[in-house]
This record gives sequence, C-alpha cells and structure tokens, in this order.
Amino acid sequence: MAILLDVKNLSKTYPAGSENVQAVRNVHFHVEEGQFTSLMGPSGCGKSTLLHLLGGMQKPTSGEIWLSGKPLQNQTDEELSQYRQKIVGFVFQFFHLLPHFDAVENIELPLLITGENPGKARRRAKDLLDQVGLDGKAHRRPSQLSGGEQQRVAIARALVHNPKILLADEPTGNLDMATGKSILDLIRKVSQQQGCAVVMATHSREAAEWGDMVIMMRDGQVNGIYPVRK
Ligand SMILES: Nc1ncnc2c1ncn2[C@@H]1O[C@H](COP(=O)(O)OP(=O)(O)OP(=O)(O)O)[C@@H](O)[C@H]1O
Ligand SMILES: [Mg+2]
Repeated sequence: MAILLDVKNLSKTYPAGSENVQAVRNVHFHVEEGQFTSLMGPSGCGKSTLLHLLGGMQKPTSGEIWLSGKPLQNQTDEELSQYRQKIVGFVFQFFHLLPHFDAVENIELPLLITGENPGKARRRAKDLLDQVGLDGKAHRRPSQLSGGEQQRVAIARALVHNPKILLADEPTGNLDMATGKSILDLIRKVSQQQGCAVVMATHSREAAEWGDMVIMMRDGQVNGIYPVRK
C-alpha cells in the first residue's frame, strides 16, 4: 500500500512556566493508506498531542509530516484549514456533538459548512446513519441517545466528507467494555468500507490490538512499533 502519512523527526514543545514540556520528541513512523494504527501509552506520553499534529490542529516545533508525498509543514494557514476540513476526520472521547441538533443534523453539518447542497448533504448523512446502525434514530438529540449511540453519530460525522484519515482520541474511553468493542468494530468496518486510514490513541492494549499496527509511546517518544497478528 502507498504511504499516506510520513512522520519524520517530529517534536512538539509546549512552553509551561519556566520549564518547557517536550510532549512529542523526535517521532518517526508512517501510516499506509487504509491502515489502522493504534497509538498506545500511559497518560501524558503525548498521544493527543501527536494526533493534533497529524490533524493539522497544532503546528510542530520541529520535524516533518508528509501527506501523500506533500509536506504539510510548508502549507499556508488556508491550505491547512482545507486539510482539516477535507482530508481529516476526528473522533473524541466525549463525543462533542451539538446538543441542540438531532443525529442527522450533527452528521450533515460538516458538509453544510463546506457549502454542500443541503439535499445531497442530508442523503449522505442518512447513508452514514444507516452504516453506523442508527437509521431509526435520525431525529434524536444527543441527550436522547446512549453513550455508545452518541459515539456512533460522532463516527458518522467524522466520516461524512470521506476523509483519508480518521483520527480518534480514546474513542472508547468513556464507554463500558462491550459498547467499546462494538465501537472499535464499527471504526474498523466503516473505515475499511470507505478506504480511510485510522490513527487511534488508547491506554488499552486490548483496544490497540484492534488495529493493524501498534505504536508504543513513552515520554513523548516512540519506543516500539509492531504489527498485530490476527
Ligand atoms: N497546552 C499544553 N500546554 C502545556 N503542556 C501541555 C499542553 N498539552 C499537553 N501538555 C503536556 O504534554 C504532555 C503530553 O500530553 P498529551 O495530552 O499529549 O498526553 P496523552 O498521552 O494524550 O495523555 P492522556 O492519556 O492522559 O490523554 C503532558 O505532559 C501534558 O501535561
Ligand atoms: Mg490524550
């Protein structure tokens, strides 16, 4: 498979009082198109920071991220904002759905923001609602859905614009084990259907091994990369 993301010598330092925090240090790895990669490591090891760098939400202090052979670090703010809107989808631990919108409205919103025709956006959102198994619940608001159902809506929203990369930050961290497993299955299934790569941060080895590759992090560094035997 072709390389989608190539990360070279990436570092991120946060200024924090008189001392700097080196959240990500000289990290190297790559993600192939359609591959499911897990980032695993203890709290504070830099998983979320790395996801934000990959998603173009934060700029690295040094190092490079190449997307399909193009350098992200040379992009203008406008190009980076296009990257975030078109290439990347993001799923969070606490879902981050808009409380006053129903499920289908939450899913179609990213398309409407980029100027998609409302009829087309609604059809695409309904397709995704079907794919995540919530076709009967299009008009429920987040408060009328279970945690697992809210995460299904969030996954549909993250995939609605057909991104090349789905970034997921502890997507099962707020769910019980059985619901968490169904969410991991769903992420794997829908990403495969759409040909989308996944990079998922998790504390849990069991969750990490849902992926094809596991990257172990400690103190901002990568200290092991291994393929998962299926
Ligand atoms: N905005 C910030 N300013 C200063 N330090 C920060 C900032 N964000 C994160 N850090 C620090 O950077 C390090 C890495 O944090 P990060 O959130 O990436 O870890 P994590 O692996 O996602 O942890 P968790 O599993 O708890 O979510 C930590 O030491 C954290 O305190
Ligand atoms: Mg985190």
